[in-house]
Amino acid sequence: MSLLSVKNLTIRDKRTNNILVQDLSFELSLGKVLGIIGESGSGKSLTCKAILGLNPDWLEASGSVLFETEELLGKSHKDLRKIRGKKIAMVLQDAMNAFNPLYRVGHQMVESLCEFMSTAQAKKLSLQWLVKMGFEKPEVVFKSYAHELSGGMLQRVMIALALAQETQIIIADEPTSALDVIHQHEIINLFASIRDEKHSLIFVSHDLGIVSYLADDVLVMKEGKGIEYKPSQNLFSNPEHEYTNYLIQTRRTISQRFSQCLA
Ligand SMILES: Nc1ncnc2c1ncn2[C@@H]1O[C@H](COP(=O)(O)OP(=O)(O)O)[C@@H](O)[C@H]1O
Ligand SMILES: [Mg+2]
Repeated sequence: MSLLSVKNLTIRDKRTNNILVQDLSFELSLGKVLGIIGESGSGKSLTCKAILGLNPDWLEASGSVLFETEELLGKSHKDLRKIRGKKIAMVLQDAMNAFNPLYRVGHQMVESLCEFMSTAQAKKLSLQWLVKMGFEKPEVVFKSYAHELSGGMLQRVMIALALAQETQIIIADEPTSALDVIHQHEIINLFASIRDEKHSLIFVSHDLGIVSYLADDVLVMKEGKGIEYKPSQNLFSNPEHEYTNYLIQTRRTISQRFSQCLA
């Protein structure tokens, strides 16, 4: 059964009348990973944010975003807050702006978690997840303000929080883009390890290697439209759209060049 069903999602900029995402449809089933790929500016982040109503007011979303039997489009911020972090967690692409500069990041983690547990438990869980994210001194990170941490560190804090929330769905928008290769590898494996019958994941990336490793289904976006959508294996072995083929070929050329350099 489909856990999340997005149908004909269209996002329009009311100020300019530009259509930024057009007629996009996809489904996420329980225990599955949906990969979204596409060049920069193709509408991946707007799509992720539209699911939880996180786009600014001048961007109008129409169509349908069904979570189980609940329509999320058009819900008030207040109602969406009941879903965010409880049913659906989000790792935003722009980690720097996701944190409030006035509070320590640990405080923000605890605040998001302590609705379900005591403050002491929330702190313990936050520290445990920071360790899993590769922080050797989680206490130091916990006490830091966002500006004291690098973009990559903040990205890892945000992933720690999203995973600690244990929601049914995690939407991760380019979650490893600011990370060095080692952390990237560790965190991709962590995402792979939480794939089970209780969790579903939307994973946005421009890295086809990561998407082919993680995703069951892949949606390819270009200029706000979904141009190809099919099971991952099928997409990589039999790309139908010229643009998908281009993405796969470019990736191969880059990998070949890397292997030549290393040989
Ligand atoms: N807050 C916004 N207001 C108006 N236009 C936006 C906003 N955010 C993004 N856009 C535009 O929408 C398009 C898609 O952006 P985005 O979803 O961020 O792309 P991607 O994540 O695929 O790189 C881009 O053309 C971008 O300029
Ligand atoms: Mg983006």
